[in-house]
Amino acid sequence: MSNIKVLDKEFEPYISEQEIQIKITELAKQLNQEYAGKKPIFLSILNGSFLFTADLFRQITIEAEVCFIKLASYKGTTSSGNVITAIGLDANVSGRDIIILEDIIDTGKTLHHFLPQLESNQPSSIKIAVLLNKKEALAYPIKVDYACFDIPNKFVVGYGLDYDGLGRNTKEIYQLK
Ligand code: XMP
Ligand code: MG
Repeated sequence: MSNIKVLDKEFEPYISEQEIQIKITELAKQLNQEYAGKKPIFLSILNGSFLFTADLFRQITIEAEVCFIKLASYKGTTSSGNVITAIGLDANVSGRDIIILEDIIDTGKTLHHFLPQLESNQPSSIKIAVLLNKKEALAYPIKVDYACFDIPNKFVVGYGLDYDGLGRNTKEIYQLK
């Protein structure tokens, strides 16, 4: 694996395709056991999570649904700050077991603002599964239930994650040099 350039920045190899796939297989096995008979809904947060979701979901062997949403944040007119709206949350989540799929948790801000909205639809459970967990950066009270990798507070791209929209189309994950 060699360095890649995305726009003006150089990135070096960080997590290999094989390491990613091993962790995803382990996570799928665990979820297949824990959610057997529960018909969970995998709620994938676009755009960054699309490859993680595809690779995980194809290894889910129990009865399950998948749904893709986009979280759009905009500045409220009051001092309350950012408001998060979910675009595409059309599945009826009431009474269902939800597994949120995120590519990366950084400060936790996005999910912190989205969770109350999801909870208001009264699912029977919500768990959070992430590919990458930037543990040190967490600044909101978010509990990550499943993490494939704990990573330091460094910017990463690849395997769905982007720098200014680019760099998503690699099989490996790269970190800023
Ligand atoms: P919060 O702070 O809300 O951030 O947990 C989550 C979102 O921020 C983006 N993010 C990154 N994207 N490389 C990326 O390509 C990174 O290192 C990175 N850190 C945070 C990402 O969109 C995620 O959903
Ligand atoms: Mg994202």
